[in-house]
Amino acid sequence: MKVLKINSSAAKKTSISRSEVDAVISKLLTRYPNAEIIERDVAYSNLPFPDDKLVEAIFQSGELNEEQQKAAKLSDILVDEFMGSDILVIGAPMYNFGIPASLKAYFDLIARAGRTFQYNEHGYPVGLVEDKKTIVIITTGGVPLGSPMDFSKNYIATFLGFLGIRDIEYLELDENRFKYEEKRKAASEKLDSILN
Ligand SMILES: Cc1cc2nc3c(=O)[nH]c(=O)nc-3n(C[C@H](O)[C@H](O)[C@H](O)COP(=O)(O)O)c2cc1C
Repeated sequence: MKVLKINSSAAKKTSISRSEVDAVISKLLTRYPNAEIIERDVAYSNLPFPDDKLVEAIFQSGELNEEQQKAAKLSDILVDEFMGSDILVIGAPMYNFGIPASLKAYFDLIARAGRTFQYNEHGYPVGLVEDKKTIVIITTGGVPLGSPMDFSKNYIATFLGFLGIRDIEYLELDENRFKYEEKRKAASEKLDSILN
């Protein structure tokens, strides 16, 4: 059993999403003591934004030059890691109404035509990632999730659904400037119910 642990908060010591991700991992380890935890801290991975090398590499059918190979290699590593995991745990703080740029950069690297999604004969996208239990922890300081200012939750659901992942549970620590204790307790109870 492989658990892919993805953090994207820039804060290291004070991050609520990081501590909730840790709480999820520790409960998962209680339930599955032999689980292998694979860490992917996208906030500190210096992930590149897509550039022409990556775009060329993704769409090129012939031999790739050195730069294209380098660009595709990182994407391949991330795709293999993502597809090879059995459970995903994703920490996603809200930054300026959406997900952090580092998490978006990660998403841009794992959305690969022919590997994680493809277009069917009618031109519609079909996810190629096998559905897996996914726990998404979303934190916000003041914006309520589901409100018109929230471009996180629905975006994450849409993106993961595009790849084929639909078994998603959300632990919502939104409005944590005002409601931290209440939200943390609710998240903990929800996590227990998910794992039971
Ligand atoms: C760069 C930055 C942008 C933020 N933008 C928003 C925002 O648009 N809406 C909001 O409610 N909170 C915003 N916040 C507050 C964070 O969402 C909140 O502090 C959250 O707990 C961060 O996750 P973390 O504790 O895991 O780091 C922002 C925080 C930072 C650092």
